[in-house]
Amino acid sequence: MATDDDLLKSWPSRLQGAWQVLAGQSSNAVRPESLVFSNRAKEHPQAPLIESLIAGVPGAAIVLDQDGGVIAFNEAARSIAPALRRGEPALISLRMPELVDAIRRASKSHEPQRVEFFERVPLDRWFEAFVVPVKLAGVAGWHAEILLLTFNDLSPLRRVEEMRADFVANASHELRTPLAALLGFIETLQGPAKNDAVAREKFLGIMQQQAARMARLIDDLLSLSRIELNAHLQPNVAVDLAPIVRQVADGLQTLARDRAVEIKLTMPPEPLVVLGDRDELIRALENLVENALKYGEAGKRVEITLSRAATRTGSPEARIAVRDYGPGIAPEHLPRLTERFYRVDVADSRAQGGTGLGLALVKHVLNRHGGRLSVDSTPGQGATFVMHVPLRTADSAPGGELS
Ligand SMILES: Nc1ncnc2c1ncn2[C@@H]1O[C@H](COP(=O)(O)OP(=O)(O)OP(=O)(O)O)[C@@H](O)[C@H]1O
Ligand SMILES: [Mg+2]
Repeated sequence: MATDDDLLKSWPSRLQGAWQVLAGQSSNAVRPESLVFSNRAKEHPQAPLIESLIAGVPGAAIVLDQDGGVIAFNEAARSIAPALRRGEPALISLRMPELVDAIRRASKSHEPQRVEFFERVPLDRWFEAFVVPVKLAGVAGWHAEILLLTFNDLSPLRRVEEMRADFVANASHELRTPLAALLGFIETLQGPAKNDAVAREKFLGIMQQQAARMARLIDDLLSLSRIELNAHLQPNVAVDLAPIVRQVADGLQTLARDRAVEIKLTMPPEPLVVLGDRDELIRALENLVENALKYGEAGKRVEITLSRAATRTGSPEARIAVRDYGPGIAPEHLPRLTERFYRVDVADSRAQGGTGLGLALVKHVLNRHGGRLSVDSTPGQGATFVMHVPLRTADSAPGGELS
């Protein structure tokens, strides 16, 4: 049995040998007996203290001895390396090559190391890890030097970065298409169609449509960011939903007539009052009814039902259901419908003047109202979009005036 002193003298070569073998770089120069982790049987004298300390670290933390043996780890570390066991070589459970490399560098150089790595299983996740050699004061010999590994989950940040990049790409693409059309027509009007009155009329009509589409896109983007900015401020004006539903249905009668679709309203006998922002609720419902008219046109019927119901937890809520009998939406699209710019059929939506921001707006409006959007659809049989808004109750109403 080797003594601490023996090991202290020989650990650099042992450690190197162990790393080489475990990192798949075994060489003939490494004798198998030098890989025996003879210290492992003996627990680190400060293990309980180290363990309680890192239990208080919010992210994942692992502490290793100089041989790469696990002294302690906290609960969060399990989600990164479920196979971690105290007293065992960390390399058995930490299989990320970048991390293994950083541990080796840190123990060789006695310098802190930072490394980023990516995990595919069970989920796509990005991490940054810090490997810091620590000298324990008051601990003698081999046990005095340990390696502290801490981890940060970078996945949410990366996802936001990706979303931002996607968003800019989508927004500029959506603006560029009508802009290119406008420039094309301007050129034609300045050149070949200069004196063609009929073509001029026709082109000006298209140019107006394209310009209106750009204006709408900018409007929608601004509304979205305004609603997002106010997401934490719950509206506190009491609003009766029945007049809102009637107003939206009336406003879209022209579109419905154009498409020969009948709008059927079903209203509750009593007023349904929520704490809300009237304009935002109108805008959200307008998009749902407009979608039902545009994409569900084939069904020739759109039903809007306002009713009183209860949430899963039993609180009272108002529901506005918009049902159409069109082609419906395949299940794989449902979870993504409320993403900005997401469209099931891009060409169809564009042809209808859509930008794919409508349902993102609906979702944000409902979030701000403490409610939610639900969608139910069977392909071939139409779709039902439901706005759920919490009803005003005695304790939620700070004496708000009915608007
Ligand atoms: N009732 C519906 N039936 C079938 N598909 C629908 C229905 N409502 C929405 N969709 C699909 O969901 C997509 C997203 O809708 P959303 O309202 O967000 O965007 P849009 O209508 O294309 O554009 P915008 O609302 O900005 O004018 C639509 O492009 C369409 O493919
Ligand atoms: Mg829409």
